Amino acid sequence: MSENAQQGPNHVAVIMDGNGRWATMRGRPRLFGHHAGAKRVKEIVRACPDVDVKYLTIFAFSTENWKRTQTEVSGLMKLFRRYILREANDLLAEGVRVRFIGDRARLDTKLVKMMDQLELLTSANSKVHLTIALNYGGRDEVARATKRLAADVQAGALLPGDVDEETLPRYLDTHFLPDPDLVIRTSGEARISNFLLWQSAYAEYEFIDTLWPDFTKDIFADVVASYGGRSRRFGGVSEPTQASTPLTKALTET
Ligand code: FPP
Repeated sequence: MSENAQQGPNHVAVIMDGNGRWATMRGRPRLFGHHAGAKRVKEIVRACPDVDVKYLTIFAFSTENWKRTQTEVSGLMKLFRRYILREANDLLAEGVRVRFIGDRARLDTKLVKMMDQLELLTSANSKVHLTIALNYGGRDEVARATKRLAADVQAGALLPGDVDEETLPRYLDTHFLPDPDLVIRTSGEARISNFLLWQSAYAEYEFIDTLWPDFTKDIFADVVASYGGRSRRFGGVSEPTQASTPLTKALTET
């Protein structure tokens, strides 16, 4: 990507927050909000080609979410299985390639099998790359990656002196993805909650007040469009700005 990205974001990551509050506001159980949230997932995935978003990564279940009640956790797991079963054919037909990130070791074997099957089924697609973070935590991901990297060093496949910023990402769950350009979090909380910690080093963040079940494709399009006007410098200084600031002008003249 160019230094001054005036085009829209290629990779958008979303922290889908607010399902519980949305349900509570309606006097309904939290799972009702998660079901409404799943419908929005479908709508937002479908909207990606219209707004030129090629990669969409969504935070569906964090390594911390196991602390929720047994009813909510098992309800969410059931919802993920149902989503895969019900959506597989549409995702395939609509050109969506689905992949999962996160630690699969703690997930139910039946769910993991379905995840593997959906990845395989959609592996030839390339219109939209949907990545679903399930039992995912950024710190956990870095720890698991480091473990694999250390094993390679121990096996002699990698020299400690050769480890640099390019090496670690190859061991992350996201090794097949570009870094996110834009991270959206719904529901008004301004936290990143352990999501894509390494990958989002230079991402733009948008914290939106809307609760996830109310996050329509029109709101998504607005947020994506607002990104287009920004200038990302990746820690550098963009040329036009550098040339025109009074300080640099004064320094050049002296
Ligand atoms: C956070 O809202 C949301 C989650 C922990 C679950 C996200 C899951 C979905 C949107 C369901 C469907 C996903 C797929 C991939 C089918 P919260 O429960 O923390 O809300 P709260 O902050 O209002 O309590």
